[in-house]
Amino acid sequence: MAVVALVVVVISVIAAHIIQNKISSNPKDVVPIAVIEREVANGWHIDLEAKPNTLNAIDRSRYALQPNSSYRVVDISSGEWQGIIPGGEAWIEEENGIAQTGGIEEVRSPWAVWATKPLLSRDECNEWVRHAEMLELETGDFVFAGGEWGTSRLHTGARRHSATRKVEDSDFAALMKQRLIGQVPEALVGGRKYGGPDAAAGFLVSKYVPGQYFAPHFDGRGSGGYSETHTAEFTVVLYLTDDFVGGATHYLPGQGSEVAQAVAVRPNLGCASIHRQGTVLHSGGEVLHGIKYIIQFFLYYESGVPEPREMANLRWGA
Ligand SMILES: *[C@@H]1O[C@H](CO)[C@@H](O)[C@H](O)[C@H]1NC(C)=O
Repeated sequence: MAVVALVVVVISVIAAHIIQNKISSNPKDVVPIAVIEREVANGWHIDLEAKPNTLNAIDRSRYALQPNSSYRVVDISSGEWQGIIPGGEAWIEEENGIAQTGGIEEVRSPWAVWATKPLLSRDECNEWVRHAEMLELETGDFVFAGGEWGTSRLHTGARRHSATRKVEDSDFAALMKQRLIGQVPEALVGGRKYGGPDAAAGFLVSKYVPGQYFAPHFDGRGSGGYSETHTAEFTVVLYLTDDFVGGATHYLPGQGSEVAQAVAVRPNLGCASIHRQGTVLHSGGEVLHGIKYIIQFFLYYESGVPEPREMANLRWGA
């Protein structure tokens, strides 16, 4: 009987997920780390010597983004729920006057990216920042890859420059599940039902000081190692501070991304932007002044049938 092995790549800030590998109960068939490294590199050269502070100007401009005149300007400062990028925006083509999605089944919710109302009060945000500082955040140029061999670190070639702490908190998972009701799809195609964040998958608190950034990438997507019928579909990026300059979350076109035109959003303190995993190219823009703290987590959907979309690892987009 086939056994399903799950190999989880947890990236320090924007993505945790899974490679799903059907194996014949033979341990040597488990996805080797080199395969994961290749998938995560996504065809880009990963320079093992690269350091964020000595990057050449060309690489730096590809990794540490600032909005420019090509961006569509979106104002989300009202702090109200707001759709930002329609699902499959870049995939929809007109044919004989009829909108097509090119048969792409992945457009399963009306929005690929949207902004939420406040999910946390200012006091709750401050408490999270204090909590993360007490636990200590870890600065590093790596993403975690986990599997049956244990945990490895994949070098990012200076694509991720920030500090992160993973926190497991089942009370907070329940709180977020509840506060997101009405702001996320209740159900997806195939009848999968909203399940909220997963306490065991955890919450990633990240801190960006001036000069720090997260290069363009597609989040991985998958089950978090739990079950094929309990799969992450969206990533929530919740802003815990607002006294910084730069550091918007950039949603970008190209490489099959659902996004047609670049947009940079800066949710208000306590508010979040949410995007679909796997198909939305995005980036944490460079912080210029002040300190940006975010808390990031995944939204799970449940059904009686295995997840119909392919699971994937994080893939760099620059
Ligand atoms: C503007 O930003 C986008 C996204 O980062 C980038 O691809 C593009 O080259 C930039 N354009 C200019 C004129 O700098």
